[in-house]
Amino acid sequence: MNFLKQAITLISIVLFFISSHSQNGHDLWLQNKNPKTVHVVTAKQSPTIDIVKNELLKGWQGTEGSTLTLTIKKDRSLHRDGFKITPTTIQANTDLGILYGVYELLRRQQTGIYINENINNPSYDRRVLNHWDNPNGSIERGYAGKSLFWRYGKDSLAVTESDRKLWQEYARINASVGINGSVLNNVNASPMMLTAGYLERVKAIAEVLRPYGVKTYISIKFSSPSLIGGLSTSDPLDADVIKWWNNKIKEIYKLIPDFGGFLVKASSEGQPGPQDYGRTHADGANMLADALKPYNGIVMWRAFVYSANDEDRAKQAYNEFVPLDGQFRDNVIIQVKNGPIDFQPREPFSPLFGALKKTAIMPELQITQEYLGHSIHLAYLAPMWKEFLDSDTYQEGKGSTVAKSTDGSLFNQKISAISGVANTGLDTNWTGHTFAQSNWYTFGRLAWNHELSSEQIADEWVKLTFSPFDLANSQTKPDFSKNDWSNNFLQPVKQMMLDSHEAVVDYMMPFGLHHIFSANAHYGPGPWYGPERVRKDWTSLYYHKADSLGIGFDRTTTGSNAIIQYEEPLRSQLSNLETCPENLLLWFHHVPWDYKMKNGKTLWDNLAYRYDAGVKKVREFQKIWDMAKPYVDSERFYEVQSKLRNQNRNAQVWKDACLLYFQEFSNMPIPYDLERPM
Ligand code: GCU
Repeated sequence: MNFLKQAITLISIVLFFISSHSQNGHDLWLQNKNPKTVHVVTAKQSPTIDIVKNELLKGWQGTEGSTLTLTIKKDRSLHRDGFKITPTTIQANTDLGILYGVYELLRRQQTGIYINENINNPSYDRRVLNHWDNPNGSIERGYAGKSLFWRYGKDSLAVTESDRKLWQEYARINASVGINGSVLNNVNASPMMLTAGYLERVKAIAEVLRPYGVKTYISIKFSSPSLIGGLSTSDPLDADVIKWWNNKIKEIYKLIPDFGGFLVKASSEGQPGPQDYGRTHADGANMLADALKPYNGIVMWRAFVYSANDEDRAKQAYNEFVPLDGQFRDNVIIQVKNGPIDFQPREPFSPLFGALKKTAIMPELQITQEYLGHSIHLAYLAPMWKEFLDSDTYQEGKGSTVAKSTDGSLFNQKISAISGVANTGLDTNWTGHTFAQSNWYTFGRLAWNHELSSEQIADEWVKLTFSPFDLANSQTKPDFSKNDWSNNFLQPVKQMMLDSHEAVVDYMMPFGLHHIFSANAHYGPGPWYGPERVRKDWTSLYYHKADSLGIGFDRTTTGSNAIIQYEEPLRSQLSNLETCPENLLLWFHHVPWDYKMKNGKTLWDNLAYRYDAGVKKVREFQKIWDMAKPYVDSERFYEVQSKLRNQNRNAQVWKDACLLYFQEFSNMPIPYDLERPM
């Protein structure tokens, strides 16, 4: 018996390795099954319309033999690439509108969701992925293999057929969820990107992406005029520097007439910038904006700034940018990370949202899970991004949500945009973890419509990614029915996704704790890292401030007073220990260990329970996934199962490390009933 068991295990391990070279998961949410015939009626011809026809040929799940009419005409109720659909018609102002309409129609057919709304306009005009890809093919904070765009070594700039095929698949995936822009290289930019060979490759990429509506952008290094242009300065007000950029931009547009523009990280984390020459962010951004203006190019200027000597890094971006409000050109948009620190598992929204009133501002989300367990932990990020987008800034009265203060509805801005730091790479499944695909999907869906719920996006994604059925048809598999699938797979897996982000927060940094990671990998715990490291703002002690009295960062008037950057009544709510939401308590307050929380227990006990609850949730996820086995192919089943096993072990490490460490300060016992869930 034992021998048999071992043999079976061995066989399954071998099968696992063989199958890991196959393609499961490669098509992500675009898995066309048994298409029906459809007759397409359209007067228009273009490369984009060819894609439209091809998608319909491959994916139509409506009535066999039906006719679908595509109409392109001016309609004022439709904005840019918006569309109107019915089961048999799609209407738009542009070819791309038709393409997005087709993907929407196919999605509805494949998920069996019919939403009875006719006009479908995008929330943001520019829906942009930021690739932190380096010219040598490595990816900063990438956990899914090497770059899709850049390669290392000899002939690395030669464009091959397989490059083109890959970029085409990439473009198709993006278009299917409405993503319409890609920044092709790291914000910590190499000046090489602006040299002829690299620009030629950008041109080749742009040609493949163009019919799918995906515009190309690049990140630039601010000191390029001196680094590659032979100038003695890169001062943005210097006439030769201005001329250099004008010529460079002219060269780019000659190659890529619809080039999107630049993303700029300047005077930030050691990167060169206008401040090196005594100039402001506005001087730097406007110089580039003026040069891009004749070609309709834009500048996405990042506000990720902080310095080692600041008593509170969370305050710096607001302090640097609010005084410049109104000084930026209308083709500049300030790109701001969702929170004031750095993509932590939970942060309050950055106070810049809503506070910049005369300057366009765009959110930067991080799809790659730098601080959320890389591609090992399962964390579905829709709930986190919704929490951010729905946060009320109160900047123009109640209801001034982050979404409204960035999508053009609250402020009159020429450009509206949102970006996400991509989680893609050359891994067969594109994102390392199968469930990380859902975050790429979610970014696109929310950028298109920030009112979609986390639940709906998860529902769509699970159906599109895992359904063994043509959901439009009532066909039954030999071994299980659609009902079984829905009850035993769809519902529990969806629930697991919806709970997953909060689980990570619980076992890493509950109650508003932040940045207590070890070293630079930003994966495991390191609450003990102290000021002996390079910079004090790169240590954990700077953030949690645990001492014998309590734990947390006092950002009220008795501390750094970062709270002043938020508008009333939010400011008062956050300032008061009693009214501050408990999930942000230690972000804003230094709280005594024995402080009584809403459930009547002490802060210390609550910390212990919360770390424990996070670990327990991951164990629940493991059980859910084990039960999912009959409903998913073995390749993805074992991949996710083994990742969850790792996640569980690592969650336990987080809990033990943090509780043991903080206990040195609290001097309080671990609650005796820890094993009992709260
Ligand atoms: C984080 C991240 C860096 C990145 C930086 C940025 O600090 O760890 O790798 O360069 O953000 O967004 O610029």
